Amino acid sequence: MITLHEEITVERDIKDCFRYVADFRTVAEWDATALNAKKRTSGPIGLGSRFTVQCAVGPAKVTIEYEITEFYPWASVVLVGKSRFFEVRDVITFTESEALTHISYTAEFKYRLGISTFEQQLESGMRAMGSETLQGLKSALDSLSSPPGISDCTARADRWVAPGVAMFSKWGYRRSIAQRNPNSHFLDGRHVVLTGANSGLGLATSVALAEAGADLTLVIRNPAKRDELLETLEAETGRSDITVEIADLSLMAEVNALADRLLAKNKAIDVLINNAGALFNDYALTSEGLEQSFALLLASPSLLTRKLHPLLEGHSTPSRVINVVSGGMYTEKLVCDRLIMTPAKYQGAQAYARAKRALTVLSELWAAQWQEDRIIVNAMHPGWADTPGVASALPTFRSITRRILRTSDEGADTIIWLARAKEAGEISGKLFLDREPRTSYLLAKTKESAAQRAQLESFIDAQIDNASAH
Ligand SMILES: NC(=O)c1ccc[n+]([C@@H]2O[C@H](COP(=O)([O-])OP(=O)(O)OC[C@H]3O[C@@H](n4cnc5c(N)ncnc54)[C@H](OP(=O)(O)O)[C@@H]3O)[C@@H](O)[C@H]2O)c1
Repeated sequence: MITLHEEITVERDIKDCFRYVADFRTVAEWDATALNAKKRTSGPIGLGSRFTVQCAVGPAKVTIEYEITEFYPWASVVLVGKSRFFEVRDVITFTESEALTHISYTAEFKYRLGISTFEQQLESGMRAMGSETLQGLKSALDSLSSPPGISDCTARADRWVAPGVAMFSKWGYRRSIAQRNPNSHFLDGRHVVLTGANSGLGLATSVALAEAGADLTLVIRNPAKRDELLETLEAETGRSDITVEIADLSLMAEVNALADRLLAKNKAIDVLINNAGALFNDYALTSEGLEQSFALLLASPSLLTRKLHPLLEGHSTPSRVINVVSGGMYTEKLVCDRLIMTPAKYQGAQAYARAKRALTVLSELWAAQWQEDRIIVNAMHPGWADTPGVASALPTFRSITRRILRTSDEGADTIIWLARAKEAGEISGKLFLDREPRTSYLLAKTKESAAQRAQLESFIDAQIDNASAH
């Protein structure tokens, strides 16, 4: 048996430390050997929660099945992990003194027959790994990461376009795991408003933000889905204090009414996530006379965000607006007049990409305009994720690419990071993929003119005014 023992002291609240470590999915953020980690049981983290962790041990990949066997909130957690080669018992204890938390970590490895003969040779490597792992945990909890920049590798991939696009797949997500900033901050008491919360990326985000303690207002279109959503969230996270608002966001009257309800409550918003969206293959006008892609994907987040500005501005910690766009927007250039497509020329994917391009530009414009108001604005795109929206709008694309699509959790990861991470609150006006800022233009010919940028907001407003007059 090899026993590793390490101790660290971090500048974090003991509860945050315990919650972060006991949710063993986070191991991929602080253990250099962990490639990914998934939670295998439903329900809040506690006794009996199970996790599958894939580790790289030299050239080999080892899968370890962990289970929490002892769970004493804020004091200690014990996990037992089993793999083909070894069994490990991790005992992690937490003690606090003033504003510091002391973490003691003991890992006892018992090797299976055959491997145990090499124990002595393995020991020094294991000790180095144990020390590196705890330093990784310290850095995640001390939250020392600076806001990320575009890495050289990503910049090169984007210059060649095809490798940049390949990163939209699950391989792009996996590649990013090793280099991305950890997400160790919680959102207790912070008010998050999220649209499109009942499906796909929105549902994955709802669960993750409920787990992170956010005070959630979830906006959904269909009242019949409210109970199922609340039941799912309670079963997954133990939370029964979540607010649901109903609005069809393709209708400006409903966007206005939603914003008015939120303004009447006068409850500050710390994070607004404009996620609701759909790709409409067929041309249609809303009952207010707006082309539906334009209405839902652009007019709606524009109107909602600007109406909610009074609840977002002026907080001591800057509030965050996160606009969910799409890598599809890389194919289109912003030309305001082309945002409203005619029935004869309508193509769903193009209308979608144009609206998402415009929302990306809008994010940059707002970031600049609202700096003084202490509101940061970023756009993100999720890559290609296998969600109900993709299954219904793009069945052929899905059947061709199914093996390389991300899960909803993987697609939502950057939304969650932008909402939670400390350093994500220090960067504004960027487009993100996989917790990393990315170029807004893969092709030079898609760069809009200054005149089109300057016209964008008044163009959207004019269309919204027409809808109101309808
Ligand atoms: N999945 C991807 O690969 C991918 C790629 C790029 C960008 N995106 C973007 O990611 C966001 C989430 O998409 P998803 O893939 O998770 O799709 P999804 O599973 O279809 O979820 C979309 C959400 O938006 C809601 N929504 C649609 N129309 C609405 C309306 N008129 N009013 C209010 N809510 C409405 C849906 O509600 P209902 O359940 O009631 O329809 C649902 O909650 C979208 O903005 C999408 O454009 C996704």
